[in-house]
Amino acid sequence: MCGIVGAVAQRDVAEILLEGLRRLEYRGYDSAGIAIINPEQQINRLRRLGKVQELGNALKETPLTGGTGISHTRWATHGEPSERNAHPHQSADIVVVHNGIIENHELLRNQLRDQGYNFSSDTDTEVMAHLVAELRKQTSSLLEAVQQAVKQLHGAYGAAFIDRTQPDSLVVARSGSPLVIGYGIGENFVGSDPLALLPVTRKFAYLEEGDVAEISRHEVKIFDQNAHPVERKIHESDLSYDASDKGEYRHYMLKEIHEQPRAVTDTMEGRVTQDGVAAEAFGPEAAKLLPGIKSVQIVACGTSYNSGMVARNWIERYAGIPCRVEIASEFRYRHTLVPEDCLFITISQSGETADTLAALRKAKEQGYAASLAICNVAGSSLVRESDLTFMTRAGAEIGVASTKAFTTQLTGLLMLTAVLARNNPQAEDALQKRFADGLHQLPALLKQCLALDSEILKLSQAFADKHHALFLGRGSQHAIAMEGALKLKEISYIHAEAYAAGELKHGPLALIDENMPVVVVAPNNDLLEKLKSNMEEVRARGGQLFVFADEAAGIKPEQGIQVLNVPHMDHLLAPIAYTLPLQLLSYHVAVLKGTDVDQPRNLAKSVTVE
Ligand code: G6P
Repeated sequence: MCGIVGAVAQRDVAEILLEGLRRLEYRGYDSAGIAIINPEQQINRLRRLGKVQELGNALKETPLTGGTGISHTRWATHGEPSERNAHPHQSADIVVVHNGIIENHELLRNQLRDQGYNFSSDTDTEVMAHLVAELRKQTSSLLEAVQQAVKQLHGAYGAAFIDRTQPDSLVVARSGSPLVIGYGIGENFVGSDPLALLPVTRKFAYLEEGDVAEISRHEVKIFDQNAHPVERKIHESDLSYDASDKGEYRHYMLKEIHEQPRAVTDTMEGRVTQDGVAAEAFGPEAAKLLPGIKSVQIVACGTSYNSGMVARNWIERYAGIPCRVEIASEFRYRHTLVPEDCLFITISQSGETADTLAALRKAKEQGYAASLAICNVAGSSLVRESDLTFMTRAGAEIGVASTKAFTTQLTGLLMLTAVLARNNPQAEDALQKRFADGLHQLPALLKQCLALDSEILKLSQAFADKHHALFLGRGSQHAIAMEGALKLKEISYIHAEAYAAGELKHGPLALIDENMPVVVVAPNNDLLEKLKSNMEEVRARGGQLFVFADEAAGIKPEQGIQVLNVPHMDHLLAPIAYTLPLQLLSYHVAVLKGTDVDQPRNLAKSVTVE
């Protein structure tokens, strides 16, 4: 949610700050702004409604010079998207950019108004600018003023401040929203995501909760929540500089869809042998901890939640242990009970989703047997705070609609199922070999699914003028129908709902007519015959069926049924493989409708506010 970039250098930093924002734009994109202290020690601030490109155009007309600056791309929480609500916010000599939410902003605003401060925006952020400006009068440095200010702030935030009177440094504070310091040579940086800083450095240190840091050209001083100086480990990043380039593809989403065979291969690399899955893939302690596990609780949001819903089917069926799955925003506030020897799993692309992180912290207090994070970002909060970790190796995912993160999560969850299934006395003899063979076949199978692209493009035409769509599946494919519907609504703005096909006659059948396309996910599994009956229920009412079916399922195209034949496969793999045609369907529909595929309206990639 929102993106922050800051720099302290000898050279002019405007272009570094702008390029950083371009790379973070997937996090939020309703407005953008920049503030730089110029060589005459004045603050120049430029803000624009709309995308980073608008700010870039403004900077061409009004170039900003200076070596110390901060910038921001916004996803509105408090106050509509507008130039006056865009960050940075300023109070006299103090300027701030902020991610997250200040929960006690009303109280602070009233206090500051009483002290004579005028507010020029509707944001919660502006209170930070005035509060630090006020405290700065009573302190000897910006660092001290920020350290005093954070004691009064409630909520989740990552923030960066500059002070006109201290032009050679910036001060940052983290509580709930990620911030990473980038170490250069004779220059240093801060960002809400290392991706923003890859053009200038590969050395990063993540701030911990409650940290405040003062960053100058030659030094970074970090203080913990008790204001004690601390060191934070510096990592060398192996993220690719090109990861955020579209290459030959028209959109990041399309690029990322096509990267899936490679991403899944990378995720298995060194972890799956001919005999099975290495437990160590889940961390050094996994071989010791996992055999004692008697049940599983999965918690996640969005697409990551859908992968958990698939995993529930796998874990209960093959590992033979109970598995519950819950949306993080519900779990964190619900009165929940802890089953004995229960593994608490969080699934998250970013590792920074506020609700998922809060759920993990609650689970740790409640005393689950162990926690496992399935995550795509090394060093993220979820990874740091979990006992066990499984890193998906999807690489940077830029498209807001998640694609390769999802299929690599599923790959990790299938591998976890294989490890847990070793302790299932009821498991079939050849199960481990079946998992290993299936996983090895997966990348080639995904390539075959991608080769269906031109047929899917044809099918997509029927959706472009529709306002609603229904997705049906049964068993683990119900979760894939959920993911298919989520993709379509996210990027094409078509209202799409997923139903377990058996629920059709309990409501959604009333919606069926010729204007309601119905997508059916139909692998060749033990529920196929039941699914065929559900399809007949739709057809008998004039509904238009689009069936993504195993070529061996015997579903033929006829009046009211269009069929996309998917290669025959072990149905263990079907949830992963069938995802790709559904992603392509949504993609083509969105392109036909002309929506913003990579940055759909109102959404953000990384949701670091609850
Ligand atoms: C946002 C993103 C989704 C993502 C969800 C959970 O809504 O737009 O693509 O699935 O957050 O994010 P996470 O990083 O925890 O997987």
